Amino acid sequence: GSYTPANTACADCLPAGLSTGQRVVTVQKGPLYRVRGSHITLWCKVSGYQGPAEQNFQWSIYLPSAPEREVQIVSTVDPSFPYAIYTQRVRSRGIYVERVQGDAVLLHITELQDRDAGEYECHTPNTDERYFGSYSAKMNLSVIADTLSASMAPQVLTHTEGDAVELTCEVSKSTAQHTHLSVGWYHLQEAGDRRAEEVLTLSKDFVLRPGPSYVQRFLAGDVRLNKVGNTTYKLSLGGVELSDRGQLYCEAAEWIEDPDETWKDISRKQTARTSLAVMSRDLSMDITAAESSLSEGDTLQLNCTVGAQKSSSRHFQVLWLLNGMEVARVDPHGILIWEEEYEERAKLGHLRAFKQSNTVYVLTIYEVGLKDNGTYHCSVSEVNTPGDFHSIQTKLSSGIQVNCKPLAQSLCNNTPQVTAGDALVLLCEVQGATSPVSVQWWHLPPQHPGPRVLVATMERDGTLSLGDAYRDSGTRGSLRLEKASSGAFTLVIPNTLDEGDSGRYGCKVTEWSRGRSWTEEGETAVTVSLGLHATLTSRIATVKYGQSFELVCQVSASYTLEEVPASVGWLFQPSPPTGHYHELVRVFPSGTVAWGAAQPRFQGKAQLTKAATSFRLSIHNAAAADEGTYQCEVEVWRKNTRPLGQPAATTRSNAVGIKLVLPESKLRVATKESSVETVSGADTAIECRIMFAQNNSQFAITWYLLPSPLADATPLQILRANYSSILEYGAEFSSPAQKSRFLSQRVSSNVFWLRILSANPGDQGRYYCVVEEWLWLVDGWYKLGEGASGSTMLEFKLPGKQVVFSHIGAAGEVREGEEVTLHCLLRGAHLPATHLSATWFRGEESRRVRPLLTLHHDGAIEYPVESLARRLHLRRPTTGDFSLTLRSVEEGDAGVYHCQVQEWQQQSKGKDWALQALARSGYTRLTTIPPGNAAGCEGQLTPHRFPLSHTGMGGRIMAALCWQCWLQWQDCRGARRTC
Ligand SMILES: *[C@@H]1O[C@H](CO)[C@@H](O)[C@H](O)[C@H]1NC(C)=O
Repeated sequence: GSYTPANTACADCLPAGLSTGQRVVTVQKGPLYRVRGSHITLWCKVSGYQGPAEQNFQWSIYLPSAPEREVQIVSTVDPSFPYAIYTQRVRSRGIYVERVQGDAVLLHITELQDRDAGEYECHTPNTDERYFGSYSAKMNLSVIADTLSASMAPQVLTHTEGDAVELTCEVSKSTAQHTHLSVGWYHLQEAGDRRAEEVLTLSKDFVLRPGPSYVQRFLAGDVRLNKVGNTTYKLSLGGVELSDRGQLYCEAAEWIEDPDETWKDISRKQTARTSLAVMSRDLSMDITAAESSLSEGDTLQLNCTVGAQKSSSRHFQVLWLLNGMEVARVDPHGILIWEEEYEERAKLGHLRAFKQSNTVYVLTIYEVGLKDNGTYHCSVSEVNTPGDFHSIQTKLSSGIQVNCKPLAQSLCNNTPQVTAGDALVLLCEVQGATSPVSVQWWHLPPQHPGPRVLVATMERDGTLSLGDAYRDSGTRGSLRLEKASSGAFTLVIPNTLDEGDSGRYGCKVTEWSRGRSWTEEGETAVTVSLGLHATLTSRIATVKYGQSFELVCQVSASYTLEEVPASVGWLFQPSPPTGHYHELVRVFPSGTVAWGAAQPRFQGKAQLTKAATSFRLSIHNAAAADEGTYQCEVEVWRKNTRPLGQPAATTRSNAVGIKLVLPESKLRVATKESSVETVSGADTAIECRIMFAQNNSQFAITWYLLPSPLADATPLQILRANYSSILEYGAEFSSPAQKSRFLSQRVSSNVFWLRILSANPGDQGRYYCVVEEWLWLVDGWYKLGEGASGSTMLEFKLPGKQVVFSHIGAAGEVREGEEVTLHCLLRGAHLPATHLSATWFRGEESRRVRPLLTLHHDGAIEYPVESLARRLHLRRPTTGDFSLTLRSVEEGDAGVYHCQVQEWQQQSKGKDWALQALARSGYTRLTTIPPGNAAGCEGQLTPHRFPLSHTGMGGRIMAALCWQCWLQWQDCRGARRTC
């Protein structure tokens, strides 16, 4: 809030006729409505008094809550006058009395509070001789809420001089009393400026009042303020000026009419500020050309236009620039200054530049030449006064490209790659020629950087004359001139000679026009090559023995090979690579065929053919020696030179590898397992049957014996018969005795026998054969494949007898430290004339089998493993029972056990005992269990049946349960429980 002292000036407030006589105290007429928080004043005046001119005043209040009780506020004379609730505000001058005159004061309340509402009394203590008149007066003050608001979106505006700008201010109030509003705009030059300049105000009486510096623009209608709608006030600046730069804000005031009929602003609100930047009027430069495409001799006109507001009152200097270099300038007075190098042409009238108006400047070039090509710009500088050296601002136009085409332009040649012997076509294209031209063709060979060699000249009348080197038509043919269109002159050299004809070719065109000659040249590079390429292919990379294969050497050249003498050579490198190729054969242009000495066999089986540009080498009846890599080599001679000298070009193809493969073996050998029983001393045979093979195959057969029943036992080679039936015995069978007992025999085309004569139990074991399929192919024997037969078990049986093997404990488990008895029983009748022997073996299937104990036929006992002897005990309760007790079982005793019983017979008294028969028991596994407390763990136990392979949630639970069981089992080793 604020207050205006003028509003409370009391000179006019005195009621008339009260100046003399009795004493009268008057206060400002109430009721007054004032806004909470504002600074208010109440005036009080005394008149008709006697005594001193300076009167004293005392202010009190009667609050609405206790209208009868006086609460003293402030006194001009008595510091102890204020009641306690006012002492603080009075002491801090929140409430004070201002003396306006000796007999008039103003009560100030700087920040009006709600509790300040009430009936105010102004009292003047008596200074009169007699008590007469009034000594106090009262009035009512109401405190109301401040409801005024004013807002404007804070913004930053940038405008150019002359732009229209509009600002809107939202103002509202909701005071119950009748009030009026005033709205005004204020301008601050700078942000820190404290003195705001009034722009335009709409008063509480709806009167527009411009600020002093805006009167002119207000009267011109450029500054306007309109109320738009209930609460919106809009300031419009028709053409913003540089002086408008700064900040603008809106201020609203709420006015109330007091009972004394004066208007009082009870509230004022300012909005946020809007920043306004005003740019000075723009300056621009434009350049245009009258003609977009030009030829030599044409006229070029460039127009430069200055874009500026109020241009007539401004001063410009204009420059023309070519590629950034000044050509000419027109100064602000309109004086033209040429750059030195243009002065001569300007004097001759070939150049002209002038100022058409203050904004249009023209540069004209008559008979434009190639030297005038480039990028043109105009530049404008504004100066304050015509004589000013310093420009206010400078602007450069965009660039305009002037590309004046030569009058006659030549473009050369459209066939830069030429193969020797082919025609070279030199095209000279002339553009823009308006009068007859002469054309001269020249050649600059690459190897001899010397003067250009004249090829031919076409005069203006069309006659052709040839250069010295081109006159003999026998060398390059007869040169001829072809005119395709008015501007296209083609010189044809029918027959290029060789690489020497490569290099640069050019044509020089001369046109006579306007009494002068214009010459233009164009050139091109030409390569004359003997383009030659050979590609070798084969339809197949792998060839079967005895088959044929064909290699194709495809020769490509950029000219027709048929007319060119060519020779083709075929090269070969055997496999594995030796590092160099042998020439197999060469065919000369005459048709002569020369066979190479290195691989003479090819001569009989290779065939050479030629079709168009492909040369073929066919090789029949392929053999191993033909495996390797092949290449072809092509040489060509120049077409028109005879007799043949050195080849003009040679090329070698890619390498093609040929691999020889054997025919696929279809051999199948019977793989059925079988067994043969025999008795000691009898002859027997093992069969090997070929199920299928090539018709003309030969077979090599090798017989093997597996003496041990165990899977991985090493087979012994008995004998091998190769494809021509040559025999070869294995190391264990090479003694004469063995050789005479083991024979290989082919009993039919597909059945082989191993004959064993006078078999003995030592021959017991598994027999099988391996058959190899061999074939004679072209130059030798080749093994196509092999196959192994199924095995045949050769057994010597004790007729009517069998060995039964058993041991204590069905699960084969023995706790360590305890003993176990393994039973070996021979069932069946026993001849009194024979003796039995028995051997116990232990061995894992995958390891070596070793004998533990042997009971010989004479009753002797042998312990091959000395360390075990102490713990082994053989009992023989009956003749056929060879039970073995193993004491103090150790962990290492675990394994597979079997026994073997042999029957011996003495041929006659005093003679040696001979082995008659042999029988082997089945196998059993002994598992050892560590000693331990098995309490509480009784039951059947088969831990290997854990369903650990189960998957999924159920499987995991199962596995977990079984893991628990496994742990229990670990604790209860030896216990019998089912998991
Ligand atoms: C002030 O207001 C009260 C309550 O309305 C009234 O009784 C009293 O007469 C008023 N005083 C003056 C001086 O008008």
